[in-house]
Amino acid sequence: MTEVVSTPVDGEPVVGRISPCRMVELTEHRDPRGSLTVVESGKEIDFVVRRAYYIHHVPQGAERGAHGHRRLRQLIVAVHGSFEVVVDDGYARRTFVLDHPSRGLYVGPMVWRDMVNFTPGTVGLWLVSETYDAAEYYRDYAEFRRDARSVA
Ligand code: TYD
Repeated sequence: MTEVVSTPVDGEPVVGRISPCRMVELTEHRDPRGSLTVVESGKEIDFVVRRAYYIHHVPQGAERGAHGHRRLRQLIVAVHGSFEVVVDDGYARRTFVLDHPSRGLYVGPMVWRDMVNFTPGTVGLWLVSETYDAAEYYRDYAEFRRDARSVA
């Protein structure tokens, strides 16, 4: 996976002021039968997984996301194919490319995200710290930005 701009440069804002977004290297067990990649709470991620979902059959040019979360944490993995996640904490915006099943993007609370540039056949996996609650979402960017700037 290529991390487009993920390492904070001195003086530059980190994306995610409560818990910064970062790429996470997952443990891949490779042998002649293939590879097995593990994500374990307390090791690669600092939250308990209460929900998992995956995105697939994304039509060419479709964009997903366009929301933020108040509390939840998640790890996003392109288990097949690739896509980009644009993260925004109300101050700064960065693009991460997910294109390897053994690397994931951790996204913490109060981060707006857009998922773009899905290659055909991509399957994206989300491991999430909370069960589904539509009220926990920000769907309006202006509201998100105002709140993000007031809490961090
Ligand atoms: P949506 O939030 O639009 O997907 P994306 O992550 O790409 O922004 O969710 C699409 C639909 O799926 C929407 O009707 C809500 C529903 N949904 C659930 O019922 N449970 C879930 O855990 C998720 C993530 C979505």
